[in-house]
Amino acid sequence: MSQMSEIARRRTFAIISHPDAGKTTLTEKLLLYGGALHLAGSVSARKSMRSTASDWMELEKKRGISISSTVLQFGYHNYQINLLDTPGHKDFSEDTYRVLTAVDAAIMVIDAGKGIESQTLKLFEVCRQRNVPIFTFMNKLDRPTRDLLELIDQVEEELQIHVYPMNWPLGTGGSFRGVFDRQSRDIHLFERTAHGSYIAPVRVKDLTDPSIRDQLDQVAYERFSEELEMLDMAGAALERQSVLSGDTTPVFFGSAVNNFGVQLLLDAFLEYAPPPAARRTRSQVLVPPQQDKFSGFIFKIQSNMDPRHRDKVAFLKVCSGRFTRDMQVVHQPSGKKVRLANSHKLFAQDREVVEEAYPGDIVGLVGHWDFNIGDTLTEDPEIIYNEIPRFPPECFAFISNPNPAKSKPFRKGMDHLLHEGIVQTLILRNSARRETLLSAVGPLQFEVLQYRLQSEYGVESQLEKTIWMAMRWISDYAPTAQDWDSLRLPTDSALAQDAQGQDVILFPSQWALDYFAKEHPQLKLHRIPLEPSVNKA
Ligand code: G4P
Repeated sequence: MSQMSEIARRRTFAIISHPDAGKTTLTEKLLLYGGALHLAGSVSARKSMRSTASDWMELEKKRGISISSTVLQFGYHNYQINLLDTPGHKDFSEDTYRVLTAVDAAIMVIDAGKGIESQTLKLFEVCRQRNVPIFTFMNKLDRPTRDLLELIDQVEEELQIHVYPMNWPLGTGGSFRGVFDRQSRDIHLFERTAHGSYIAPVRVKDLTDPSIRDQLDQVAYERFSEELEMLDMAGAALERQSVLSGDTTPVFFGSAVNNFGVQLLLDAFLEYAPPPAARRTRSQVLVPPQQDKFSGFIFKIQSNMDPRHRDKVAFLKVCSGRFTRDMQVVHQPSGKKVRLANSHKLFAQDREVVEEAYPGDIVGLVGHWDFNIGDTLTEDPEIIYNEIPRFPPECFAFISNPNPAKSKPFRKGMDHLLHEGIVQTLILRNSARRETLLSAVGPLQFEVLQYRLQSEYGVESQLEKTIWMAMRWISDYAPTAQDWDSLRLPTDSALAQDAQGQDVILFPSQWALDYFAKEHPQLKLHRIPLEPSVNKA
């Protein structure tokens, strides 16, 4: 197959949702349709799948949440699918953000009984910043839902995105009978299956078929006809370009747990979602995926994925050219040449050696201790991709080792886990404190750090939460020591430096931050760190 056709058949995406909306269930069903999982079915199989395929860390099993993201790669018809699993807990973590920098599209799952929830909104915004095309799956139609037109309006208003319902449900809750496909004008009838024990049969009938009327009572049928009429009046046909630019989200209705509507979603998603796009370098050049020379970037690092071998996996997203095992590439920013020998395809914990990969694919590189998140690997030394965006931390804590006899493994564990970017470190100015100050986007990141220090390095740690809850980077200011002293920070605020040596201020409240910003208009306060080039200027 040519390079062009390999690229054209790749779809790299993530599923985003508020916890409990049905992300795990939908992931499982997509794997089922993709033939990558034959287990999906009984509750027990589902639980075991949870622990073997999508989630693999002990802590996740214990808490019933998904913390670390993994990659699920499988073929479906002629497509090669790379599904990047994002953590699904109620706290936010940087890991989630980073994974979303590596996708070309996203499926947003919404519980139709609840509508948009806080986490959906945050994740959506991250996708929106990169204009990633978003597909919406309204889940749990087998349960009572909110008014469907109101749900659609809520998405349009709160997310400021145009909505195009691809299908429309015939009834909801106990009287949910199926969906009407607005493109083909077919009715797909729903048959409840035992927790999705097999691929649900889908019967297709014409809308004029009198038996459709028999599916719904008079009130539900009239409602359905009215809603459909309103939708038809409201919108023209779906424009793919508007989906690709992230301006329109195609919406699908269904019930993941019952397998209903999943195949319709998958088929349309694969048709409308884009293959891997060109990626921008730091010098603002767009590198097209079909370019001859291989390039890619590291978006995630994970230590000790296989607890038997203390190894480190760097997840590489291929952006251009063709990856082949053993190839020699330039590691940016060090400029060193490295051989990529130990390359794997990962399916949760399982690994398989990868001989070649194409744009859109994710390759797990094992054993490269000097790779960092955001690094570029390329055959073309001109290519250095933009840094992976960082995010404003909202949680701060000191961590220390309570057991001096364990200082060596403690330091080693901290080194490894900080390298993964589980949390960030800060250095306080004017402070005699010796403990390491950590920052995170969500408090669960601290919990994961402590848990992994214990389980992977056998060391206890002590965490002391602080009163700070916001941090800002400062620019346009080259302060002397006296300047800093005369800044007059609000009570309980502090000056610090991040790991890259950039100056930051920590605030105990939004009020303190706003007050300080007003008092010091000469300072520019930034929610995220400055790009290195900007900082130098
Ligand atoms: P998440 O990953 O987004 O957190 O959600 P997850 O798939 O774990 O689903 C959360 C709960 O919602 C699960 O129930 C799941 O079975 C249920 N669910 C998912 N899709 C549907 C649907 O279409 N209809 C209905 N009625 N329920 C759905 P649970 O009781 O937490 O787990 P389990 O005992 O069913 O495994």
